[in-house]
Amino acid sequence: MGSATMITKNRAFLGRAVRYLAAECGIRGFLDLGAGLPTQGNVHEIALEEAPDSFVTYVDDDAVVAAHGRALLEGDPRVRFLRGDLRRPEEMARAGDVYGNANAPFEARPGARIARFFDGFDLVEPGLVPLNEWRPGDDAPPPRGGFVPVLGGVARRP
Ligand SMILES: C[S@@+](CC[C@H](N)C(=O)[O-])C[C@H]1O[C@@H](n2cnc3c(N)ncnc32)[C@H](O)[C@@H]1O
Repeated sequence: MGSATMITKNRAFLGRAVRYLAAECGIRGFLDLGAGLPTQGNVHEIALEEAPDSFVTYVDDDAVVAAHGRALLEGDPRVRFLRGDLRRPEEMARAGDVYGNANAPFEARPGARIARFFDGFDLVEPGLVPLNEWRPGDDAPPPRGGFVPVLGGVARRP
């Protein structure tokens, strides 16, 4: 099999797998590790087509790929492109350790589950977003990928 055919088949498989997960399994949080540069038939295009309440996070450890990914995909709060090394799953494990000593337990939840807390309320702009992106004002941006893996939102009772 030629390399062009292999790439095409790989892409087609990715599309079918994401469509299956979104349409038939109810999956709403997608993590694409070693994502590479965005191209055609990206995970978020398929996931959001099947389920508009999906969240997609792309991760790549190549700084250039991550920068291009952010530039190409930014604008949709449901899509993130982070620079990270999949061999070093980072911040959430440490957060769990910190909260392990607290009197309130830490529970990581996907964005779609957090969004359900706001059912029946009107989220004010910019909605449910990483904490650093909620009306940042003069708040200093976070280091590295410019992303805080915690979502926050403010809502009004209608
Ligand atoms: C072949 S490319 C992307 C393929 C894409 N997932 C696809 O199926 O079309 C592989 C990507 O993995 C990234 N990568 C390699 N090692 C990685 C690691 N340890 N953590 C995160 N990304 C990594 C590379 O930078 C590269 O962009």
